[in-house]
Amino acid sequence: MPYLLRIDSSASGDTSVSRQVADSFTAAWNGDVVHRDLALNPIGHLDAAGITARTTPATEHTPEQKTAALLQDELVEEFLGADAYLFAVPLYNYSIPSVFKAWLDHTMIVGRTISLGGPAPSAGRPAVVVSARGGGYGPGTPRHGKDFLVPALETILGDPNLMALDVRTITPELTYAPTMAPLRHLLPQHHASLEDAHTQAHRQAEEIGRITATQMTT
Ligand SMILES: Cc1cc2nc3c(=O)[nH]c(=O)nc-3n(C[C@H](O)[C@H](O)[C@H](O)COP(=O)(O)O)c2cc1C
Repeated sequence: MPYLLRIDSSASGDTSVSRQVADSFTAAWNGDVVHRDLALNPIGHLDAAGITARTTPATEHTPEQKTAALLQDELVEEFLGADAYLFAVPLYNYSIPSVFKAWLDHTMIVGRTISLGGPAPSAGRPAVVVSARGGGYGPGTPRHGKDFLVPALETILGDPNLMALDVRTITPELTYAPTMAPLRHLLPQHHASLEDAHTQAHRQAEEIGRITATQMTT
């Protein structure tokens, strides 16, 4: 049976806003969930053995390539077995947390999860990215356009030539406002953003649940 694949990557445990909003999504999700927590169980960086294992026949693998190929097989099968995705990926240094970047590097493989020149096996599957960020990045703010995570993930996950997922992004922001004095005047905007994020997560779970249910009956 297909399932929702939820991937967490915030290092902040239960206090993570991305996790809390992702929890709102799964609370409203009516189906099986496979959960991978990259902060609790990091998978390490892709190395030379992992790259060369992809183009070396299995019968010729070194012990290092065998180990690397096993991990890639596990991640790829887990990815392809899902019919919907929930990625909780906070903004770290204007970009993607390294544990999630490592997951992408291991999982995006030409000929398996991406097929340049043809539709990817995951093409059209719905995916939600929840990305909490400490500052505010809306139009008119000094940081507008400097969140490089959202465009990168929307491209990597959503580009028709890559994973081709149907990506929806939720960005609860100004999460620094409750703890950083210079941002305290932005608390109302933070609370509004947070409330909106939980509402969107709930709605997306219902909408994506309807989409996957329809696909199962057609
Ligand atoms: C290592 C690290 C780097 C961060 N870099 C940024 C940043 O570049 N811009 C920003 O707005 N917030 C930044 N933050 C703040 C986080 O985006 C913010 O705390 C967010 O709530 C983290 O998501 P989480 O609550 O799901 O853990 C950073 C936090 C950490 C721990």
